Amino acid sequence: MAESISKGVKIVVIGVGSVGSATAYTLLLSGIVSEIVLIDVNKDKAEGESMDLNHAASSDTKSRAGDYPDCADAAIVIVTCGINQKHGQTRMDLAAKNAAIMQDIIPNVAKYAPDTILLIATNPVDVLTYVSYKASGFPLNRVLGSGTVLDTARLKYILGEHFDISPDSVDACVIGEHGDSGVPVWSLTSIDGMKLRDYCESKNHSHDDAIYHKIFEQTRDAAYDIIKRKGYTSYGIAAGLLRIVKAILGDTNTKLTVSTVGDYYGVENIAISVPMKLNKSGVHPTDQIPLDEKETELMKKSSRQIKSALKNLKVE
Ligand SMILES: *[C@@H]1O[C@H](CO)[C@@H](O)[C@H](O)[C@H]1NC(C)=O
Ligand SMILES: *[C@@H]1O[C@H](CO)[C@@H](O)[C@H](O)[C@H]1NC(C)=O
Repeated sequence: MAESISKGVKIVVIGVGSVGSATAYTLLLSGIVSEIVLIDVNKDKAEGESMDLNHAASSDTKSRAGDYPDCADAAIVIVTCGINQKHGQTRMDLAAKNAAIMQDIIPNVAKYAPDTILLIATNPVDVLTYVSYKASGFPLNRVLGSGTVLDTARLKYILGEHFDISPDSVDACVIGEHGDSGVPVWSLTSIDGMKLRDYCESKNHSHDDAIYHKIFEQTRDAAYDIIKRKGYTSYGIAAGLLRIVKAILGDTNTKLTVSTVGDYYGVENIAISVPMKLNKSGVHPTDQIPLDEKETELMKKSSRQIKSALKNLKVE
C-alpha cells in the first residue's frame, strides 16, 4: 500500500516544535508521502529539521522548508504551531493565544491550498478545529482535529497493561473533548472480542467501577504526567496523526475519534470527537454510537464545556 499512495503526495506541517518535528519524522519513516514541507516562523529551525529529516529519508521522500505558497496542492496540511501546554496549565488555558494564531495562519493556507484537508493538532484542539473551520471557509469534511485519537490510544494501552493483553486486542474509545472532560465509552468496550464484564468473568478479573475510574484517570492525566517529566508530549500525538493521514490517503474508511464541526448532544456549532469515517475526501459522519445514559450526560457536559470556551473567545 505504501508505494501505491506515495507518488506525488505532498503534506505540509506548520509548526516544527516538538509535535511538528516528531510528526514529520513519523510521516517520513512511514514512506507514505513523497514530499514533506515544513513551515515555521523560525525559518532556520524549519530548514535544519528538513535537512536532518532528509538524512533519515528513503530516496522516495523529500523534506524541505517552505512558506504558505508551498501549501499549493498539498493533500493535507497539518497544523501543530502555537504555544505549548506548560506544567500546571490545562489545554483550555492556551485557547485565546492559539486561536489568534489560527486566525492568522489558516486564511493563508486556504488561499494557497483551497482544496486541501486541514488537520489541526494544536491545543485546545476542539476549540481550534472550530476556529480553523470558520477561518478557512472550507466544507465540514475538510477540517478535522486530532481530537481523542490520542486519548483512545492511551486508554487502549492502559487497558492492555491492566489485563496483560495487547492493546490491539482492546476495543475501546474516548470521545468528547480532548481534555479534562473526555468520555471513556465503557458500555461499548470489549477485550478480545468480549464485553468488558464477560471478559472479566471469564478471566476472574474483578469488574469494578473504581478500577475503571482509575484507569480513565490515568488516561486523562497522561499528558500532565508526561509534561511534568519531559516538558512536552510528541510521539503519541505524532503516531495518532500518522494514523489519521494513513486513513485519508489510503482511502480506508477507517473510523477514528477525530474532532469535527457540527451539532452534538444538544449543543450547536462546536467541534468535538466522536467516531468518524475517514477517506480520501476527508471526514464523514457515521451512525451515532449508542451510549448509555451516564455517557450521554457526560457528552452533553463535554459539549457544553467546549461551547463555553468558544463563547469566551467570541467565535461562535
Ligand atoms: C477466581 O477467584 C476466586 C476468588 O479469588 C478463586 O477462589 C477462584 O479459584 C478463581 N478461579 C479461577 C478460575 O482462577
Ligand atoms: C468517502 O465517504 C463518503 C461518505 O460515506 C462517500 O460519500 C465518499 O464517496 C467516500 N469516498 C470518497 C473518495 O470520497
